[in-house]
This record gives sequence, C-alpha cells and structure tokens, in this order.
Amino acid sequence: MTVAPVPNARPDTSEGGPPAPLRGVGEVPGPRGGALAMARMLRGDPLGGLTRLRREYGPVVRLTSWPVSAFLVADPAAIGDGLVGSNRTHAKGAVRRGFTAGGTVIQPLTLLLGQGLLTSAGDVHRTQRRLLQPLFHRQRIEGYGDTFAQISDATAATWRDGQALDLHAELTEMTLAIVARTLFGVDLDSEIVAVVRTAIDENMAAAGRARTPGFETIERLPLAGPRRRRAAREALDRVVHELIEDRRRAGADGDDLLSLLLATRDPDTGAGMADDQVRDEALTIMLAGHETTANALTWTYHLLGQEPAVAARMHAELDDVLADRRPALADLGRLPYTDAVLRESMRLYPPVWAMGRHLTEERDVGGYRLPAGSTLLFSQWVVHRDERWWPDPDRFDPERWRGAAIGVGAAPPGQPRHSYFPFGAGPRQCIGNTFAHAEGVLALAAISRRWSFAPDPGVEIVPQPLVTLRPRDGLPMTAHRRPPGHRPA
Ligand code: HEM
Repeated sequence: MTVAPVPNARPDTSEGGPPAPLRGVGEVPGPRGGALAMARMLRGDPLGGLTRLRREYGPVVRLTSWPVSAFLVADPAAIGDGLVGSNRTHAKGAVRRGFTAGGTVIQPLTLLLGQGLLTSAGDVHRTQRRLLQPLFHRQRIEGYGDTFAQISDATAATWRDGQALDLHAELTEMTLAIVARTLFGVDLDSEIVAVVRTAIDENMAAAGRARTPGFETIERLPLAGPRRRRAAREALDRVVHELIEDRRRAGADGDDLLSLLLATRDPDTGAGMADDQVRDEALTIMLAGHETTANALTWTYHLLGQEPAVAARMHAELDDVLADRRPALADLGRLPYTDAVLRESMRLYPPVWAMGRHLTEERDVGGYRLPAGSTLLFSQWVVHRDERWWPDPDRFDPERWRGAAIGVGAAPPGQPRHSYFPFGAGPRQCIGNTFAHAEGVLALAAISRRWSFAPDPGVEIVPQPLVTLRPRDGLPMTAHRRPPGHRPA
C-alpha cells in the first residue's frame, strides 16, 4: 500500500487541554491507496498495519471512503464514548458486509448463535442482557471457583515431566471442559461437546466464505460446505433441545448455567425464556466463554517463556501463598503479581483484538464530525501498544500494574480509562468478565504451582487475528514439573 502521510493536527482528546475546533469528515487523515490496498493490508498484517497507521496519522484514521466510510478510532476518550456512551448511536452488527470485524464476524456467527447476547441487537439484546446479568454476578461465580481449579489440576495431571505439548490445544480443551461443566454439568466426552466442536469448525469455515458477495444465498444452496454447516447446526440443535427437555423434566433446579437460564423469569412480566432463546444463549456462552480464556492463558505462557525472571517471581508468589495446596477463589486477592501477569498478557495479546461499530447517526468522534453509516474500528491491540500510555509498549512488564486494584479489566491508576479494554466496555461489555478473571487467575495459579514451560527454540509464534487472537500454529512448549512449593513459616 502506498502511504502518503497527512498530518493530524488535532490533538488526541484524551490528552487534555482546550478542545480543538471540530473538523469535517474530509479532514480525517489517512493513507491514499483506496479500498483494495487497505483490504490487502488488513488481510495480510492487520495488527502491524493498524499499529503503523495509528503511529503515522494519529488517533483517528480514515481507512476507506468507499464503498464504506471506515475509521480506526484509537483515542481512549472516543472509544469510551462509542462503547459506554450510547448503544443507540454506536450499533453493533448490521454493518455493511465485506470490510469490518462487525460485518464479517457477526454475520456468520449469527448463523450459529441466532439471537444470543453476542449477536443480537436493540431491544432483544437489552431484554436478554437484563435477564442474564444475575447469572454472572460475583456470588454465582463463587460457586464455580472449585471447578476452575479442579479442572485445571486434572488437565495438568495428564502431563509428564519433559513432555512436549501444544499448550494452546491443551488449554483450549481445558477451558472447554470448564465451560461444559459449569454450563451443562457434563464432561468433555459427552455428545454435546462433540457436536459443539463440529459446529464451531463448520462455522469457522463459513466465516471464511463470508467475504464472498451473496454469502447469505450461498449458505442456503446445496453445496458441500454450507450443507455440512447446516447439518452441524441441526445436530447441535437436537442435542441442546434434548438437554433442555431433560432439565425441564428433572425440574431444572440444578446450579449449572443451563438450569439457571431455564429458571430465569422476566421481573416485569414473569415470563420465562423460550427454548430457542435458551439454546442461543447457552451456545453463545459456550463459544464466547472458552476460546477467549484459552487464548489469554496461552499468550501468558508464551510471554512467561520469554521472560524467565517474571515467571520466577510469579512462582515465588504462588509458593508463598499456596504452598502446595490447590488455589481457591479466596486466593484471588492474595495473588497480586499473578493477577498482574495475566493483565499484562491481555494488554500485549488481547484475546479480542478489535471490535466494530457503526454510527446510526452523525456523531463527533475524536474531534471529527463523522456521518451516519460510518464504520468504526476500535482495536485493543493498537491502543494497548500505544506508547503514550504504555512506555516501551512491547515489553512484557507486570510491574506496570503495581498499585492497581486487583480485578477485571481496569487501566492502571493515572491512565485514561479506555487505554485498556480487553473486555470491551459499556452496555455490551463482556458479561463473562468476572468469570473469565477468576478462571484465568485460578487456572494460571493451579497449573503454574506445579509446572513451568520452556519454549521450543527456533519456533516463531505468530499471532493470527481471526475473531479472536490465537497463535497461528499453536504453542509448542516443553512441560517441566516443579518441586512442591515451600510452606511459608
Ligand atoms: C479472557 C477472556 C475473555 C475476553 C478477553 C472477552 C472479551 C469480550 C469482549 C471484548 C466482548 C465485547 C464485544 C463487543 O462489544 O463487540 C465480549 C462479549 C461477550 N463475552 Fe466475553 N470475553 C472473555 C471471556 C468470556 C467468558 C468466560 C464468557 C462467558 C462465560 C464470555 C461471554 C461473553 C458474552 C455473552 C458477550 C456478549 C455480551 C453482550 O453483547 O451483551 N466472555 N467478550
């Protein structure tokens, strides 16, 4: 792509100072080269490409003007406005297809997840979010703490000292087992897990087809790929509906998420959720809730493998606090360094690396008046590596989080609020953030108290930004058993 810099004279609104006059859409700086060159860059190296654009042009960059007006927005204040300010003016989904994350990701996902929280919009989303929120309150998560640590221990118990592993595959199985147990009360060898796996694979293939014009029509044709996807979805529907039936017959008073979904009542109308809606929500949580956490843990072990001093310090904290017992939810507040390791890893490798929104009406964005229909791209990858908030941004340094309150997703003290947003923000913020934080720290603690991992020398780990950010070829590492931790005096 030919890049001809156009200076971005307007200061970032997050830097304070008197507000600069509002500018028109034609003044947003950006590279020349047209939509095709941009599409090529975004397909080839979106992480590096977007980071370079932010550095060259400033916090608001015009990506394309035609066929869609699309902008990278890397100004924390404008991100806050877009995510927290209004769900009405900054809509998710329904983005014109073919360009943004919103267009190519949400559409194929909808084929699998229907009207679940992740893919629904407007009133459906608002009602469902209100119904589901109590299922993710801290008190509920407390009931899952043992499952997080127990399944992490059981996964690690299958490894041998000196064994070469694909740690990404191991951790993905582990988080799938956790969500299968907490959601459906079943183990990994159950039918539901098998059909979910096939449906996910077929849906990933459909996501690859989503860039083709006429995607929705193609998916209805009797072609091999779409046919396999439809069969996978039918199998999944059948198994989920059987599970729902079983729960209903049994009285649905279990404490797994499926039972809770079935027991949910609208506080105003007293109505329960229709079975199809329960299905969509259950699958949404299963899908949204395992690969993200697996990726967070995978990148954490990759980074620890690069920085043995950080790993040693984390191990020392685990030995001091846990000695040789399994971690429990009550330990979350006692493991500040382990917590900081996970946060710092989600800064450098955010499992959700970018999110799309589109403007439903004209709006001021980072000092520019942008028209209705504009697509906005907020990228965690870009903002989390912005040297204005993160000195020496590519360095893995959990010390940055010294003094930060332990917990979910907030930026360190003194920094703009949305300079760190691994879980998004506002009304569509990750509903599973407390779940993910507890699961992430407990799994990291449970595994790392007994194991350390050495990288395979000479193997380059390449981030692959699909819906989530995963290592393209997995994470080959060698597992080393650690001696039991010492007991503090
Ligand atoms: C480290 C792990 C995780 C990360 C980084 C993450 C990240 C995110 C982000 C950034 C969003 C917002 C997307 C947007 O606004 O466009 C989101 C939404 C969502 N997440 Fe997570 N997530 C994680 C784990 C989980 C878990 C464990 C669950 C469930 C158990 C979950 C369930 C959901 C759901 C249902 C939504 C849609 C919420 C809505 O639109 O109302 N996530 N997640």
